[in-house]
Amino acid sequence: MQFESLPGFREFYPEACRLRNYIFSHWRKVARCYCFSEYDAPVLEPLELYIEKSGEEIVGQLFNFEDRGGRAVALRPEMTPSLARLVGAKANSLKRPVKWFNIGEHYRYERPQKGRLRAFYQFNVDIFGEAGPAADAELICLLIQSLQSFGLGEADFKLRLSDRDLWLLMLASEGLDEAASAKVLGIVDKLERMERAKALESLSAILGEQAESFLGQVERLTTIRDFAGLRAFVEALPLEGARQEAARQRLAEWTALMEHVEAAGLMAFLQIDLGIVRGLAYYTGFVFEAFEASGEGRALAGGGRYDALVKKLGGPEMPAVGFAMGDVTLIDLLESKALLPKFVDAPDIVIVMVGADERKLALLDAASLRAVGYQVNYPLKEQGFGKQFKAANQSGARFALIYGTDELARGAVKVKDLTSGGECEIRRSDLLQTLPELIEHGLMADDGAR
Ligand code: HAM
Repeated sequence: MQFESLPGFREFYPEACRLRNYIFSHWRKVARCYCFSEYDAPVLEPLELYIEKSGEEIVGQLFNFEDRGGRAVALRPEMTPSLARLVGAKANSLKRPVKWFNIGEHYRYERPQKGRLRAFYQFNVDIFGEAGPAADAELICLLIQSLQSFGLGEADFKLRLSDRDLWLLMLASEGLDEAASAKVLGIVDKLERMERAKALESLSAILGEQAESFLGQVERLTTIRDFAGLRAFVEALPLEGARQEAARQRLAEWTALMEHVEAAGLMAFLQIDLGIVRGLAYYTGFVFEAFEASGEGRALAGGGRYDALVKKLGGPEMPAVGFAMGDVTLIDLLESKALLPKFVDAPDIVIVMVGADERKLALLDAASLRAVGYQVNYPLKEQGFGKQFKAANQSGARFALIYGTDELARGAVKVKDLTSGGECEIRRSDLLQTLPELIEHGLMADDGAR
């Protein structure tokens, strides 16, 4: 009987592991450059954590079951609820703003397809304790720079910025209450993938005869791409009193956010797009998603503000904003742009030995070279000289250290530069001092004994 892995779960052969490490090292490096600290949380959580907190869409995709103690549990589909709990529990002792990141695997029972698997990695980056738009802008810059770090440019991806607060103001101006607004936003979230007639039908169920004019209004709003257009749209909304003041303040926050991104020199990546509303239940203000520039394919990353979640999970009032980037769509994009490097896993040094007597000395030297960080390999079983040499050449190693009887009798070994063919003899006792220079400069084909 043959066992196969489950649909949507990947097996990571060494090649794939190298690629994964490459992605993770870029994510980690950018997060550190922005001075974020790494944290982690459990992979298995109480099911309750995701019910209501994450919203219908994710709850419908949970890997959940009852554990042996009768607890209802779920594999984490996302990090945000766990993170909000962690931060909430220590909120008083944490220095603000809290800037944390994580790289971890997440699980969603989705139909496996291009860009979507059932187990995938996310790079989660979040800021807590800062309510102003500078925190949103900082994360937007971090997101852009992490994609840039892979060689992607403004012709390759865009970050689409939207705002749930503006949406709620617009919906309030239509006379919709909170519950109806949530339903309408659920429809707006799917608008791009939905036929107009179907959208109209769904909106009619909530808005009755107003649905057609409302959909026209939505279409006008979602096609705005410049701030002047957005400002004009918002200023024309029939808002009064506190709502009018809220709209004015919101536009000032938009201005501050965009000035920040502009000052960082990253404005070319930012696109206003109110068509983004985000499916997750906890978002409150600015929301954003990164996509391939053509707009095709699934999102590379998504996030936004969630100022109420920490409190909902038992913590104090604590503003929060963050995003997560997935590895699946990112790798697809890097592959399509030929931006994935060729990974080589070659040793620095391969040891070639004449016979069993030389092996002991070779093992001793290999251990001391490895102890200081060289990547050293040798055959695990005795082999003929020719076969060992062929393997050393095929390994891609830079140098062969040859343990021959005559050289060893003189307390020396022969070093061969496998690229140039140059050779020299060095004393075993000098190996650690001599190798760094050899590795830096190589050996010329006509280099003699040193
Ligand atoms: P999300 O939009 O559900 O947000 O996921 C973020 C990213 O994770 C997506 O843009 C995508 O790249 C990747 N992703 C999601 N589902 C899958 C899947 N089935 N297969 C492959 N990749 C996938 C969140 O998860 C929020 N918790 C992000 C956040 C952090 N908001 C605030 N802080």
